[in-house]
Amino acid sequence: MKYLTLLVYKMNKRKLSVAILIFFSGLTPLLFGAEEIEPYNDRYCTTCHGTDGRGNFGVQAPRLAGMEAWYLKRQLENFREGIRGYHPEDIEGLAMQPMAEKLTNESILDILEWVESWEYFPAEVTIEGDAAAGELIYSQCATCHGAEAEGNEALGAPALSGQNDWYLITQLKNFKQGLRGGESTDPFGQQMMVMTQILADENAMDNVVSYINTLGR
Ligand code: HEC
Ligand code: HEC
Repeated sequence: MKYLTLLVYKMNKRKLSVAILIFFSGLTPLLFGAEEIEPYNDRYCTTCHGTDGRGNFGVQAPRLAGMEAWYLKRQLENFREGIRGYHPEDIEGLAMQPMAEKLTNESILDILEWVESWEYFPAEVTIEGDAAAGELIYSQCATCHGAEAEGNEALGAPALSGQNDWYLITQLKNFKQGLRGGESTDPFGQQMMVMTQILADENAMDNVVSYINTLGR
């Protein structure tokens, strides 16, 4: 019942919807005793991540379609190892963490192939900010994420363009508050955590994400 307690922790409407979805989606057994259901299908991801992995604001699960395979793989491994989705206040990360816990290396490879077959559609724009002010900030992000926010595999920095803007904001807040990237065995997350120090406040986050919304669409 550990996860139940965590999910109802500091409950507001959005968090409540995550909890309700988990209870009514038939995913509860995955949280409360996956050992009991046998066999089970690893391809349950779209329950939360939306049809064809286009993202789902209701449960705060981001777009997976179009995601680089190397980044998708690393995040699944990070969740599986518990170096992401580890903080009691990271409600969304805590919803995702047990989903990756049971994945084997084989099922991760299977998921990479499956996700690659989905068509990429840039996510809808939902954030309002000052894109011109955001452009100035983004010049410091481009070093790693690329001028068009297309990502850079060599540096381990994922593409940001086309991702759900509300999700990018959540991640910036999570990094800044140490809810993500705080583990010593997560060098990429640690790097990004340091970078959020240049974002003064939530306005700066809205602005930089508004600028990212103008790229690569
Ligand atoms: C119970 C709902 C739920 C299910 C089922 C689920 N996820 Fe998630 N997933 C989430 C949520 C919520 C997040 C956002 C976590 C955060 O904000 O840090 C997430 C985040 C992710 C991320 C991080 C994306 C990024 O840009 O860093 C990946 C990758 C991911 N999920 C893949 C999967 C895969 C693959 C599956 C199926 C094996 C799956 N998820 C099943 C809810 C779910
Ligand atoms: C030094 C290189 C570097 C710089 C500069 C940098 N990032 Fe990152 N960023 C990363 C890496 C590496 C990751 C992947 C972290 C992981 O694997 O968990 C990342 C992840 C992210 C994520 C999470 C994406 C997702 O799908 O979950 C966001 C959002 C992000 N960066 C935004 C920014 C913004 C905005 C800036 C500028 C203020 C910035 N980054 C500057 C390296 C960098």
